[in-house]
Amino acid sequence: MPQSSRIVIVGLGLIGGSLAAALRQAKVGQQGDDCVILACDPDAGEIRRGMDMGLIDNGSTCMGDVLDAATLVVLAVPVLAMSSVMKALAGYLSRMAPDVVITDVGSTKATIREAAIEAFGELPERLVLGHPIAGSEKSGVAASNPDLYRDHKVILTPEQDTDEKAQRLVETMWRMTGAEVLYMGVERHDQVLARTSHLPHLLAFSLVDTLARQDERLEIFRYAAGGFRDFTRIAGSDPVMWRDIFQANRDAVLDALDDFENGLAVLREAVIQGDSDGMLATFDRARHARHYFESLLNQTSYQAEYQMQETAKLRYRVAPGGSVTGRIRVPGDKSISHRSIMLGALSEGVTEVSGFLEGEDSLATLQAFREMGVAIEGPHQGRVTIHGVGMRGLKKPAGPLYVGNAGTAMRLFAGLLAGQEFDTELTGDTSLTRRPMGRVADPLRLMGAVIETSEGGRPPLKIKGEQRLNGITYDMPMASAQVKSCLLLAGMYADGETRVREPAPTRDHTERMLNGFGYPVEREGDTCWLRGGGKLVAAPIDVPSDISSATFFLVAAAITPGSDLLLEHVGINPTRIGVINILKAMGADLQLENLREVGGEPVADLHIRYAPLKGIDIPQDQVPLAIDEFPALFIAAANAQGTTRLRGAEELRVKESDRLQSMADGMTIIGIDNTLYDDGIDIVGKGGEGANYGGGRVDSHEDHRIAMAFTIAGLRASAPIEIDDCANVATSFPTFVELTQKVGLSLEEVRYD
Ligand code: S3P
Repeated sequence: MPQSSRIVIVGLGLIGGSLAAALRQAKVGQQGDDCVILACDPDAGEIRRGMDMGLIDNGSTCMGDVLDAATLVVLAVPVLAMSSVMKALAGYLSRMAPDVVITDVGSTKATIREAAIEAFGELPERLVLGHPIAGSEKSGVAASNPDLYRDHKVILTPEQDTDEKAQRLVETMWRMTGAEVLYMGVERHDQVLARTSHLPHLLAFSLVDTLARQDERLEIFRYAAGGFRDFTRIAGSDPVMWRDIFQANRDAVLDALDDFENGLAVLREAVIQGDSDGMLATFDRARHARHYFESLLNQTSYQAEYQMQETAKLRYRVAPGGSVTGRIRVPGDKSISHRSIMLGALSEGVTEVSGFLEGEDSLATLQAFREMGVAIEGPHQGRVTIHGVGMRGLKKPAGPLYVGNAGTAMRLFAGLLAGQEFDTELTGDTSLTRRPMGRVADPLRLMGAVIETSEGGRPPLKIKGEQRLNGITYDMPMASAQVKSCLLLAGMYADGETRVREPAPTRDHTERMLNGFGYPVEREGDTCWLRGGGKLVAAPIDVPSDISSATFFLVAAAITPGSDLLLEHVGINPTRIGVINILKAMGADLQLENLREVGGEPVADLHIRYAPLKGIDIPQDQVPLAIDEFPALFIAAANAQGTTRLRGAEELRVKESDRLQSMADGMTIIGIDNTLYDDGIDIVGKGGEGANYGGGRVDSHEDHRIAMAFTIAGLRASAPIEIDDCANVATSFPTFVELTQKVGLSLEEVRYD
């Protein structure tokens, strides 16, 4: 607080008293601080209690006694008392400091703004309306709690011409209580609060009242269990205060109530009809929305709510040395996991998935379908049950679909949403927001889709529904499975045939899986096609382990003397095995054992032992087949004898980060000799059996594969390697740390600001 502040709290109840207590706790008006905290309240007993508790220096039942030279006035009276209090305050303005700042704590803002205009003749520039979102069923100054606002949100709703200094002062005051300060417009505040606070209170009051009026109430309450207690706790709140709030925020509450009643009517019908899928869809969606509430609200990557609770970032610290031994199974394939949800949701019947990747990316896809009305059970240890709604059964989601860090989700969704009857918006995290979407929006527009992108073809994507799509023949300018898949998915909704030619083979999971779900996709040479208007029939999916995740362990074992590792059940689809071909060409001792086929995808156990590697020129035809594996392969190259040359890999520049640049920067820091090109890199490896480079701190650029690549580099470094910003490893490989420790790396996780 500025020196010599005179803070006057008008209304010394729970809210005003807790503010005083929190400011005291932050040393305001304590020894060595010349600020004073004063209060006025019509109840002399409350003032006395406040002084006895040491919360205020002085107080009065009359406003005029405490307002002289006031620098900050906080109105902490009930909402409907605000008008008369402001009118009284207006009469004392001349006695307060010339730059006095006024704020309030009311739960509704539009009526208080009106009251202020009426009282002061106009909205004072130094009036900053605010609302701390904290409270308790208790009331009165005796219940004051210095920690009531800690880690709670305070919403300030200044107008355009509200004085900036005044805003900063009010913000500072709330920050001193430990609260987080947010800004919002008045109308938005009232709508948001009507839904998140006022409606639940109305329901709780109503439910308890309804039950309490029933004759057998004693019986009912005797058996009332946790559900009743959880749902109705807030029915113990102050009735007068809530009556005022419902009067003050009438329209917004009625809107919220309408929505609620509509939702309830749908559920009622589902109960009447015994509509098990309908109920499951609603409950499951609600359960997950509840669980991920924080991350949904904050729009960070999907499961990152756990990391988000602490704002700290995640750093890996890898000690040098160690060997890589044992037998492990890495999580399910990301590409197949995304597609299993997409095709399962659009199918007729129930799709059972096993081995599903419970990483943030594929969970974002799953959540998006829940938001479009699909009942999905799980995931429970990789098992997901999808109750398909058929090609035309998706429902308009309530808001934008947020897909986190997942480029695959955004691009494939673009195709299938272009064919729906409703409008949608696709958004993602900051990394995804930088990635090019023109590559899918442009050909979709050729098919007749209406899609808006941000500048430079970046997300968000706004996709218009009810468009008639036509099949096209498209010559892809880049080898991209995401673009191909996007167009095939849109093609299912288009008239005629959609044909896609790829300049080089790219992963073919979409084609295989569509065929597996009974939707014929043909291929001849470099072109695949399908005809619109077909349907999908549910089919079980066994997701193999992701070869892209297995790669980090393949390279770890390949570069570390003494290593012997078995990776179980890895998908070895021919369009994904560039890494196997490249490592073998470099001299790796890698065997494919127990080859078999599961659910239309070839699978094997990969057995790798250490053998000295040599640098190679990476064959062009292997580049699209190993596109996600290059960060790890660069570390293999850094430990090989001689130079490894990669060209024709400009696609690496538009992945979760610019992977050529991110890897070159990190390698330079730890002393790996490299030369960067527009479309590739040369890496010079020392090929020795000891340390091949030093340690240092590198940045993952929030890219999961960069983080994991530098982790395995630690095995052959002479000093520890630290990698910043590793939280996104959870997008594709949530068990990475656990498995690296299991096979013998010394990896530690550190939280930092
Ligand atoms: C993917 C295709 C590839 C790959 C990505 C997953 C897919 O992207 O890098 O991790 O599931 O279709 P491009 O299609 O952009 O090459």
